[in-house]
Amino acid sequence: MSGDGAPGAPGVAGGGGRRRLEAIQSGVDAFTTGILAGLELPAEAACLELGAGAGSVAYWLAGHRPGGRVTAVDIDTAHLDPGRAPNLEVVRADITDPSFEPGRFDLVHARFVLCHLADRDALVERAAGWLRPGGVLMVTDPYQLPAGTSPFPVVRRLMAAYHAVCSRAGTDLAWARSLPSLLARAGLSGVEFAGHPACMGNGEKDRWRTLIEQAAPGLLAAGLDPADLDAFRAHLADPGFIDIPQVTLAAWARRAG
Ligand SMILES: C[S@@+](CC[C@H](N)C(=O)[O-])C[C@H]1O[C@@H](n2cnc3c(N)ncnc32)[C@H](O)[C@@H]1O
Repeated sequence: MSGDGAPGAPGVAGGGGRRRLEAIQSGVDAFTTGILAGLELPAEAACLELGAGAGSVAYWLAGHRPGGRVTAVDIDTAHLDPGRAPNLEVVRADITDPSFEPGRFDLVHARFVLCHLADRDALVERAAGWLRPGGVLMVTDPYQLPAGTSPFPVVRRLMAAYHAVCSRAGTDLAWARSLPSLLARAGLSGVEFAGHPACMGNGEKDRWRTLIEQAAPGLLAAGLDPADLDAFRAHLADPGFIDIPQVTLAAWARRAG
């Protein structure tokens, strides 16, 4: 495991703007595509990207398998470019809508989406049903380490507020731990999983400045002292400030062929 990552986001069952989506992508794309590149899938694989965001994974899939096709679904498609690849389709839809029936795919992938949604367990089961025989379901979400264990008192308070805002918005930052079991219970086999530590601080490797700045109004509303935000900003200039607030967990498994 190397040292970047990306979080779940407070108060947002998804959106939050392009800068936030790009911050997420820059933190975790290499981890995601490293796993995707190792999956055995047909050259003409049909791929479904759920909650595609700003599209980096959908674009990567389309480029990685030019003979396949990629369906990128999001409830807000403002940050997706359907002209990015000839084998890419962009679909605006709510994946929690019972009438959402996208078809059958060789790969179904969802990153930092399901932990925000109330019916997340059921969605894993539904998503398993969107697989063709032999297809792979991969789900990635953040697991927040206990805020109180940070070596930095300011991070303890910051991440406690972050957790509170997420919980109030219905985001479960511990749910990722249940992914391997949920995939197995959905009837899939060969369950695998991997983790990727998020990097807060450590100079240029920091992945949290943008996320915390965007979350700041919510964190302050949750009772965070403005002085803690200032202290966090000051910490970022300190080369000795390096922390791991979350671990991104990915789990994947295959439908019997
Ligand atoms: C935190 S972003 C993650 C984006 C992308 N998967 C990534 O990891 O870079 C969550 C995305 O899920 C989308 N989303 C949230 N709820 C959704 C729903 N019910 N149906 C479809 N998309 C949804 C949001 O619009 C947003 O683009």
